[in-house]
Amino acid sequence: MFIYEDYNLQNKNSFGLNVSAKYFCTVSSKDELVNLVEQVKDEKVLLLGGGSNILFTKNFEGCVIQFNRKGITTLDEDKDSVLLEVFAGELWDDFVSYCVEKNYYGIENMSLIPGTVGAAPIQNIGAYGQELKDTFFAANGIYLEGLSEKTFFKSGCNFDYRSSIFKHELKNKFLITSVVFRLKKSHQLNTHYGSIEQELKSMKKNNPTLADIRNIVVKIRQEKLPDPRRFGNCGSFFKNPEIEKVHFEKLNQLYPSLKGFPFSENTIKIPAGWLIEQCGWKGKRIGNVGVHEDQALVLVNYGDASGAEILQLADSIKEDVFKKFEIQLEEEVNII
Ligand code: EPU
Repeated sequence: MFIYEDYNLQNKNSFGLNVSAKYFCTVSSKDELVNLVEQVKDEKVLLLGGGSNILFTKNFEGCVIQFNRKGITTLDEDKDSVLLEVFAGELWDDFVSYCVEKNYYGIENMSLIPGTVGAAPIQNIGAYGQELKDTFFAANGIYLEGLSEKTFFKSGCNFDYRSSIFKHELKNKFLITSVVFRLKKSHQLNTHYGSIEQELKSMKKNNPTLADIRNIVVKIRQEKLPDPRRFGNCGSFFKNPEIEKVHFEKLNQLYPSLKGFPFSENTIKIPAGWLIEQCGWKGKRIGNVGVHEDQALVLVNYGDASGAEILQLADSIKEDVFKKFEIQLEEEVNII
């Protein structure tokens, strides 16, 4: 274990922002974490996963900690399902690929989501009709204060749309070291999401396999979302907002192309990408930053942008969306 000082984080955040941390350290065991916490006990701490959901607006004046242990272990299995423990440093998409190869069902629609397995429960990642919480069994980890270990089962995680206890009450307080998933062994696919259905139709696949779904999701994502190795980005910058039914009905009369998805008894979730596009932001570029041309929910660093420039762009978008639709967009990414 080595504690770096004044560490450049440009390769550690998918926006590619040129910022630094006062200290940076990767740990792979509880002993290493205990040792580190003793040495940096007066510093602020930031727990970093793959850096694919974070916007640094300034240097971090504290210690950034990354847990990097990888590995997948089968804890239990029967004829219907398998219980897998995955160390937090494993890349999420490597884990999806492993499950598809083994014919384990339940996370294939979340193919190619960047980031680590340890970060996945924090924002309850989701895509194309699947959410992490549907296959999540437990998260194991360590409190930074007191350094005691704890297992959080699903009911204790307060999972919600792109949210959990780890993103709020326990933010930067609890280091997730491994995640346990229960996956199905029987053929059970979720193909109802619009773009997956369309793709299956055009490929004339009536009985898709697990690998077909993974390939389709990879294709859709590669077509719509910019590769962070080319243009820095963090996927969806905002959450899809939840609005009152009456508000939705009013808007839908004015804009029949607006789609809504029932969320709770009185609320409807609507696509933030649509709202942003309607305000004329899709594909717009201002200096080093811009809104992606194929998916308006994604903000892009086209060059040497600073976090402040991205934040400024986000604020302008929020202002326009509010003026036009009286809807307050909320960031999905963590702003530091
Ligand atoms: N839309 C537009 N214009 C756009 C983008 C979207 O009108 O520029 C509308 C269209 O009506 C489209 C609908 O939004 O049919 C949904 O678009 P899409 O399928 O691309 O999904 P999204 O709601 O924009 C969410 C997640 C993504 C996830 C996709 C697919 C959030 C904040 N984002 O985006 O997650 O991949 O669904 O399930 O919920 C991420 O979290 O970083 C992420 C990429």
